[in-house]
Amino acid sequence: MLEGIRSIRDLALEGRRVFIRVDFNVPLDGTKITDDTRIRAAIPTLQHALARGAKVVIASHLGRPKGGPDPKFSLEPAALRLAELLGVEVLLAEDCIGDGPRKIVQDLREGQVACLENLRFHAEEEQNDETFARELARLCDVYVNDAFGAAHRAHASVAALPRVTRERGAGLLLEAELAALGKIAAGEVLRPYVAVLGGAKVSDKIAVLDALMSRVDGLIIGGAMANTFLAAKGLPTGKSLVEHDKLALARTVLARAEERKVELLLPEDVVVASGLDDTHARVVDASAIGEADMALDIGPRSLEAFTRKLRLAQTVFWNGPMGLFEKAPFAAGTRGIAKVMSLLPGAFTVVGGGDSVAAVQEAGLAASFSHVSTGGGASLELLEGKKLPGVEALRG
Ligand code: 3PG
Repeated sequence: MLEGIRSIRDLALEGRRVFIRVDFNVPLDGTKITDDTRIRAAIPTLQHALARGAKVVIASHLGRPKGGPDPKFSLEPAALRLAELLGVEVLLAEDCIGDGPRKIVQDLREGQVACLENLRFHAEEEQNDETFARELARLCDVYVNDAFGAAHRAHASVAALPRVTRERGAGLLLEAELAALGKIAAGEVLRPYVAVLGGAKVSDKIAVLDALMSRVDGLIIGGAMANTFLAAKGLPTGKSLVEHDKLALARTVLARAEERKVELLLPEDVVVASGLDDTHARVVDASAIGEADMALDIGPRSLEAFTRKLRLAQTVFWNGPMGLFEKAPFAAGTRGIAKVMSLLPGAFTVVGGGDSVAAVQEAGLAASFSHVSTGGGASLELLEGKKLPGVEALRG
């Protein structure tokens, strides 16, 4: 996965303008960052560059602004947080190209940091526009990509820019992500290897289900996507979220698992309520979901069965929550999986995907995992066996 890609460790940085593409696409409540994991994750690379005497220029996207600059999507809160974490001043440019940023970068001294404003304030970023990339290249002697979360986007700062820079390489976060997820994707892991998939939709996970099926020994399915599988088996699902147009597909997945002798575990029981806002949760058998019931979490028997399977595993990959974990009555399944995975001695445990990662962080368990990915879409695309534009552009 990392073949042909230079590491930031092997690049000459001293006195040079080192352009580091980070993924500071962090959740915001107004101007308050509600989870700074992605900023923290970039710190080792930034510290490395600063310690080597680089003039650091960082760039990121934030959100999905359309139609030009929008203060709601300014990188200012991220730049402030970064300054706190790094303990150095971070100069925020008012744009990412043009005279303003050029002046700031020109005046940068070794060991200083400039942060460009949101790359997506220019439509050319998402268009992977080469002229825009060449403008960014004017701010850079060495290009480093540490934005794993954005590596699946063929956008200018991720794909076109490294191709028009003479020296390029991977940051420490990108390397760690590719090393951990690369092993998982290739199935080059100790066995038994069990994958836990959850989240709302089977349709989001078809490609990943397909890819995993030929690699894993066991597949655990929870979350709302499990409802579609229960319905595919002919069980009543009441008011639960079910993708009726994916029933045939779910049956194919069940049949393939049998063919390949992959043990596929579905919930044996579920936590139900009358709707998303009903807090009167009840546990029912997965075969006895009532007409007025909505399944919103896996039940305790399911968690026990999943735990038994996970305790035998040497490698576990987890993506997607087991239920509506944002609401306390439906959080036990997701929390339970996080806890069990954090207590598997010697196993290689990887979690990827926004919601399951958030659950692990919230529970304060991240340090007990072998790897917690900062990439949602990027980690899934890697597992699907796709090539990531941001990684391919660093080769050679
Ligand atoms: C993410 O949050 O998954 C990445 O930052 C990519 O963001 P995007 O989905 O808006 O391209």
